[in-house]
Amino acid sequence: MAEKERILVVDDEPSIRKYLQTLLEVDGYTVETVSSGKEALERVGAGDRPDFVILDVLMPELNGLESLRQMMQIDHSLNIIMLSCSNEVGTVVEAIRLGAVDYLTKPFEKTELDAAMLKCRQKKQLRAENTALKEYCDQLTEDLCFLAASPQMVRIRQNILQIAPVDVPVFISGESGVGKEVVARMIHMRSMRRTQPFVKVNCAALPGELLESELFGYEQGAFTGAVRSKPGKFELANKGTIFLDEIAEMSPHLQAKLLHVLQDHQYSRLGARSVVSVDVRVLAATNMDVHQAMKNGQLREDLYYRLNVLSINVPPLRERVAEIPLLFRHFLTKYSEKFQKPTPEPSNHLLEAAGRYPWPGNLRELENFVKRYVILEDDEGSFRELLEMAAARQRTSPREEPSPPREQGLKALVRGLKEEAEMEAIADALEKTHWCRKDAARMLGISYKALLYKMRQFNLDSGRTTRSAPAAQLERKS
Ligand SMILES: Nc1ncnc2c1ncn2[C@@H]1O[C@H](COP(=O)(O)OP(=O)(O)OP(=O)(O)O)[C@@H](O)[C@H]1O
Ligand SMILES: [Mg+2]
Repeated sequence: MAEKERILVVDDEPSIRKYLQTLLEVDGYTVETVSSGKEALERVGAGDRPDFVILDVLMPELNGLESLRQMMQIDHSLNIIMLSCSNEVGTVVEAIRLGAVDYLTKPFEKTELDAAMLKCRQKKQLRAENTALKEYCDQLTEDLCFLAASPQMVRIRQNILQIAPVDVPVFISGESGVGKEVVARMIHMRSMRRTQPFVKVNCAALPGELLESELFGYEQGAFTGAVRSKPGKFELANKGTIFLDEIAEMSPHLQAKLLHVLQDHQYSRLGARSVVSVDVRVLAATNMDVHQAMKNGQLREDLYYRLNVLSINVPPLRERVAEIPLLFRHFLTKYSEKFQKPTPEPSNHLLEAAGRYPWPGNLRELENFVKRYVILEDDEGSFRELLEMAAARQRTSPREEPSPPREQGLKALVRGLKEEAEMEAIADALEKTHWCRKDAARMLGISYKALLYKMRQFNLDSGRTTRSAPAAQLERKS
């Protein structure tokens, strides 16, 4: 069922408020009224966004033109229709200049009001089309930024071109920062759905219930705080692509629901009786070891096999060293342009050191390094930073990496011991809860986000690494 459009009527005259309310409610609008510009501003300032505002010009205290000016400052996309007894040209021109869609003079005909509302709708549609066009252009630009200079990435590019037009789910795996999202966007851009939305959802960013309402939307009153119905990301992605990032972070309950949606192409918003039918291509990604995640019960096997019709594994940067100089220059150009600085010419020894460093954070770590390089404009300093990063990896296990390299003595010792104890406690909690992060966070009395941060810091990952893994990594390096 289409949502009712909401109108806010702002007029100090009770009879006009009543008249407009009756007139518009008959037409099926939800009408709210306030008696001053100040009240209207308070509402808009608090985030209320009615579909239309009908604003009287002559009001005591804050007049209509001033209210209009302040409201447009808060949100220039508001659709405001001015209403006045006077049709003095100066006022009309000023109202239109400030951003009002139309100006009606009292007494007005109902048809005039209808025409003004139609104008608002057209303006809204135009704005939506502009935004869609802008997003489309941004995506096109990103598509051009898919660099593939190593044999592995050239093969991946070919795979993408092959599978993009085939309308089935794709499962993308790879360590954090390798470029999974870039792959997902490119699949969308090369598919038949390219002119439709690409909607990304980070499944790790929200706890279970919130993620469910984010994905599937809700009806008004579905839960406390659901004051207005809201479409979910699946509805917003209709006819396009949805990218479910960090899928293994989704709760098992939600994974089961997702499986049904994939099978039936329909579901209900939370609190709704009717079903919504959607036509969405699903791309999913994880940086976990998939088989380990299934073994732990974190990723449902049936869901994985449904999503994994086609798959792409993006290799870590250390396995495609040939690309480092190219990516270095790519990020160099990107950030020089962004920060409006001349593009520096990196020294050979800096590029060589970048080629030797293993980049555990992959492309994202390299990108941040180059960003710093552009900002600081210190080739030698960046070179030394790289050497220190490499030495720190050789010298210490990853669990000690966060300590500043030059920190010495008792302070460093205490910090090391504290971190070791912290890591032990987190690993124990994870093992006891069979790697259910939510339960582990609860057991440790910290937030879910803090736990994820700590796990990343200590390189704790159910699949890739365990508590003994840092030592194993060191052995491999030496
Ligand atoms: N092939 C590529 N060409 C150019 N830039 C790339 C490429 N792949 C990734 N990047 C850049 O590297 C950064 C990290 O990529 P992306 O966000 O896709 O990684 P990710 O695997 O999704 O990371 P995470 O697991 O942390 O979400 C981004 O800034 C992206 O633009
Ligand atoms: Mg990502």
